[in-house]
Amino acid sequence: MKDAILAMLPPAHPWREHLLYFDCTDSTNTRAKALADAGAPHGTVLIADRQTGGRGRMGRQFHSPGGVGLYLSAILRPDCAPQDLMHLTCAVAVAACDAVETATGLRPGIKWTNDLVSGDRKLAGILTELSIDPETKRVRWAVIGIGVNCCQTAFPPELAQIAVSLTMLTGKSISRERLAAAMITAFSDMDQALLPRKEAIMNAYRAQCVTLGQDVILLPSGQTGRALDVDGSGALLVEKQDGSVLTVSFGEVSVRRMQKNS
Ligand code: BTN
Repeated sequence: MKDAILAMLPPAHPWREHLLYFDCTDSTNTRAKALADAGAPHGTVLIADRQTGGRGRMGRQFHSPGGVGLYLSAILRPDCAPQDLMHLTCAVAVAACDAVETATGLRPGIKWTNDLVSGDRKLAGILTELSIDPETKRVRWAVIGIGVNCCQTAFPPELAQIAVSLTMLTGKSISRERLAAAMITAFSDMDQALLPRKEAIMNAYRAQCVTLGQDVILLPSGQTGRALDVDGSGALLVEKQDGSVLTVSFGEVSVRRMQKNS
């Protein structure tokens, strides 16, 4: 798989030097964090065929069977304060949509904050993690991880109603190598734009965020309202029925679309 990915990346691509491939690992994010702590350079990319401990947001598991998914993490070392990276997960989501479109022709939507979706079904999830230098208060590293359902033709019962794969959506066989090369290219382009083009990134995020305009339930609080907008830091603005507006930061809550009674 590694050779096929390298063959699809431009010969001068700066991230091709540090591409690591694993047949199996616990979690590419966990492994990337350990490597980043040990000094691995900016642009190090880890890809696994299978994860035994794939992780999602809020301590959830990410189902990561072999042969059918793309499980990819990258190490970034931006020279900035953590407050400058509040939009990182949004930027990764937009870049991941670009990569999926480049590799398959299909453009997913984004469910706030960190899921790529088609209709109500989850196609991919994103997990970003940061380390901050306790003395300088600057970012030491960021790990951006994505898991994409590529070639599944069915899911286990607990995911069958909520997950979808690129094969199920397109009816075609999907090259994970091609998607991996597109993802690496999109992530490195995103890295270049991350600090200088924040506003353009957030505008692209808003344009693709399918949560906006929906009636939503915030979990675990159970509060309800309409998703109005996403602010510059990636927080969701939710208008409650009394007209007041909640600012909901990612990491704190999940949103569920409210089902309309027919
Ligand atoms: C979520 O659904 O909340 C996010 C899922 C993120 C999964 C990816 S797979 C590659 C990387 N390694 C992990 O353990 N998690 C991310």
